[in-house]
Amino acid sequence: MLKAFNIRRHAALFCHLLAVCLLCQKSYAQHVYNLSLSIEEGLPAGTIVGDIRTGVHTPNRGFFISESKDSYVFKDLEINADTGIISTAVVLDRERRDQYEFVAATLTGEVIKIQIVVIDVNDHVPVFSADKVELTVSELSPPGTRYELEAAVDEDEGQLGTQGYRIIQSDMAELFKVEYRNGGRNIWNLDLILTKRLDREERDCYSLTIEAFDGGIPPETGRLQVKINVSDENDNPPVFNQTEYQALVWEDALVMSSVCQVHATDLDLGDNGLVTYEIIRRQNDQNEFFIINKTSGIIQVNKTLDYETQAFYELIVRARDSGAQPEYSSTYVTVRVLDINDNRPNIDVMFLSETGEPEVSERAEIGEYVARISVSDSDLGEAGRIRVTLEGGDGKFTLKQIDDFLYALCVDSKLDREKEEFHEVILVASDFGSPPLTSQTTLLVKLIDTNDCRPVFDQEEYTVTVSEDIPQGSSLLSVQASDLDSGVNAAILYSIFPSNHLVHIDPGTGLITTAARLDYERETEMHFLVVSVDHGTPALTSTATVIIRVNDINDNKPVFKQQLYNVSIPEHTQIGDCFLQVCLLVLCVCADV
Ligand SMILES: *[C@@H]1O[C@H](CO)[C@@H](O)[C@H](O)[C@H]1NC(C)=O
Ligand SMILES: *[C@@H]1O[C@H](CO)[C@@H](O)[C@H](O)[C@H]1NC(C)=O
Ligand SMILES: *[C@@H]1O[C@H](CO)[C@@H](O)[C@H](O)[C@H]1NC(C)=O
Ligand SMILES: *[C@@H]1O[C@H](CO)[C@@H](O)[C@H](O)[C@H]1NC(C)=O
Ligand SMILES: *[C@@H]1O[C@H](CO)[C@@H](O)[C@H](O)[C@H]1NC(C)=O
Ligand SMILES: *[C@@H]1O[C@H](CO)[C@@H](O)[C@H](O)[C@H]1NC(C)=O
Repeated sequence: MLKAFNIRRHAALFCHLLAVCLLCQKSYAQHVYNLSLSIEEGLPAGTIVGDIRTGVHTPNRGFFISESKDSYVFKDLEINADTGIISTAVVLDRERRDQYEFVAATLTGEVIKIQIVVIDVNDHVPVFSADKVELTVSELSPPGTRYELEAAVDEDEGQLGTQGYRIIQSDMAELFKVEYRNGGRNIWNLDLILTKRLDREERDCYSLTIEAFDGGIPPETGRLQVKINVSDENDNPPVFNQTEYQALVWEDALVMSSVCQVHATDLDLGDNGLVTYEIIRRQNDQNEFFIINKTSGIIQVNKTLDYETQAFYELIVRARDSGAQPEYSSTYVTVRVLDINDNRPNIDVMFLSETGEPEVSERAEIGEYVARISVSDSDLGEAGRIRVTLEGGDGKFTLKQIDDFLYALCVDSKLDREKEEFHEVILVASDFGSPPLTSQTTLLVKLIDTNDCRPVFDQEEYTVTVSEDIPQGSSLLSVQASDLDSGVNAAILYSIFPSNHLVHIDPGTGLITTAARLDYERETEMHFLVVSVDHGTPALTSTATVIIRVNDINDNKPVFKQQLYNVSIPEHTQIGDCFLQVCLLVLCVCADV
């Protein structure tokens, strides 16, 4: 009986023996048997695999084993060379080694080829190389787009390997499905397929869990978490937060003061959602009264506004995003300019006199029109309503309103040029703006003279005494009348009434002279009237009485009035020049002085 260690020691002998046996196989009619055994992997060490004796016909004990003790066969299997019982020495793993082969020989020379197949059991699960995977899907990807994911690997064979995939957990299951196809070598390729269009603006991230399953009963599974980020595309236009904007601005708004702010949002991300603004000036605001801040959407005044020129603007503002292919949208901004009372009333005076000068006859009746006053104001509304008042005028004039913008300057009391030739009238026009603006104009109204004053003599009665011997043409006295009127109405002509052949009056100066020699014996005293007539139409007259007393020259000795007459004569005075009159005596030069 050979012990196993003998076999080991005599391996060389065994080889020799086996070789002899094999060589003599034919001549000996020796038997070679095949013994197929199998055992499931994963069973505990010591599990019996089989018995070598079942491979031969004749019962036998004691075997020679072809493998050396340190071969892989003896590492994994325990072979009892005495009994022929094969059992496992370790837990077998088909995925490490799926079969063992060795040869055993009996002492009688029978040879048994032993093959032990390790039977696969479902001891492996499908495994993904990572637990999680992140996927970026464009929101514009069409339905049907495939995303290949890394397949799960199951080391088991055939049925026990990966059989397929399914989505087991998803927050939006209907958006994705999985498909798989055989990729050979026990691998099933995995595709995730988009079934509907995504919208990042609605939802930008999804997660789902894919399970790989094998064909075991029950199947083993492996899981993969898929996170799907939806990437942005410029698929949204900017949207204004109001369909229309309305703004008010005072017409005196400073340049750069802001009028209103428009605001548009774009749901897209990054540049696709970065909105800028501009004013479209094809039809509106071509003169650039307004500008818009590209980034903030603040509309500002760019030029001084004027309500009276343009009170209403309609701007078209366009927003665009900054995507590679930008999207646009537009809105209207209506800007109403508010009136500021920035215009003074305007006063226009038209005189009704013939010359158009500021004149009126002093004879004008109360209520008679002197001038027509029209007022205007460029402002509108209250700021354009006007009230006119009158100042000055010494109470002689009044204003009569004809309509909102028309007044008449009328005579309000009797006029008298002789008292006051000029009247200063101030017209004040003020509007109803707040604060009100006023303007005023000063008129100097001249009264035109009428012949309403008669000439008046400075004395009612003139008396003069003359000596009867004065020569013809001697002046007697000068009368003087005055007339308060002016011009022709004050130009006076003098005459004597009744006319008298002894005296004559100068019609212009009023100097009365003798027209003939007087004779005391005939008339000692003369009475007559002087008449003054002005040139007015109709002419006015007045009279005064003149009394002339005539003295008799022979009745009285002449008497010097003075004791001494002291006269200086310039030298070289002409001979015959008179230099002094002493009563009726005239001293003249009769020789060179
Ligand atoms: C044993 O197996 C070998 C090949 O595996 C084969 O050629 C031979 O015919 C078999 N012998 C018997 C007796 O079945
Ligand atoms: C997906 O989105 C998350 C959060 O939104 C982010 O942290 C991650 O980096 C994104 N992944 C990719 C591949 O873009
Ligand atoms: C729109 O945006 C502007 C500017 O931000 C803001 O003043 C306005 O109130 C917004 N309008 C609405 C209806 O929210
Ligand atoms: C536009 O507005 C932004 C923010 O208010 C400001 O920083 C920028 O200077 C403005 N641009 C112009 C040209 O005024
Ligand atoms: C604003 O006004 C100025 C001066 O009136 C003009 O030169 C300019 O073109 C206007 N527009 C802008 C956008 O500044
Ligand atoms: C005469 O008048 C002159 C100058 O007026 C004067 O100097 C002179 O004394 C006078 N003679 C007499 C006598 O009064």
